Amino acid sequence: ARLGVLVSGGGSNLQALLDAAGQADYPAEVACVLSNVPTAFALERARKAGVRAEVVDHKGFGSKADFEAAVLGVLADAGVDWVCLAGFMRLVSADFLKRFPGRVLNIHPSLLPAFPGLHAQKQALERGVKVAGCTVHYVDAGTDTGPIIAQAAVPVLSEDDEASLSARILAEEHRLYPLAVRLAVTGAVTLDGTRTKVDARVT
Ligand code: GRF
Repeated sequence: ARLGVLVSGGGSNLQALLDAAGQADYPAEVACVLSNVPTAFALERARKAGVRAEVVDHKGFGSKADFEAAVLGVLADAGVDWVCLAGFMRLVSADFLKRFPGRVLNIHPSLLPAFPGLHAQKQALERGVKVAGCTVHYVDAGTDTGPIIAQAAVPVLSEDDEASLSARILAEEHRLYPLAVRLAVTGAVTLDGTRTKVDARVT
């Protein structure tokens, strides 16, 4: 499988995918990294890994449709067949998803459906939950609402602040995302309506 990884920031999840894809037995390669933010450090990570790194700055387009057309053009040119959102701060439209049906994944730093949207770790702290975590899911037209592929849980400690909890979750994200991508691209995950069935063989 040829992954297109969409980023906007530091790219630590991208790095986890780059590291996994570098293993000979991993069933996917990162064909292209695309950022809407020209200065995203994630682009540096791609370049260091010798992976095509592209900037499509959303500010340079008059409409979301034009922006997405440019993004889709780069992904097509790179021969991408799966799209992984990794800290990508733009919502993708239903039209975008139609170009990659059932093949757009995202990672979110909460145990969805709890705490969708921004600052999920802060939401968890403010709600006082004792268990937090992260979710890899198929992207649908909603915000963090697509079928769930995999989740990982971490404890919330009494002395936690947003930074310490985010760091604990991020470490799990780096393990979960490469695993979830492996499951998805090998067909070990199948969709049953809005739920996924995962073949235990490869978890
Ligand atoms: C991660 O917490 C991810 O769950 C969320 O945004 C953050 C991206 O971090 N979508 P990075 O850019 O991958 O380091």
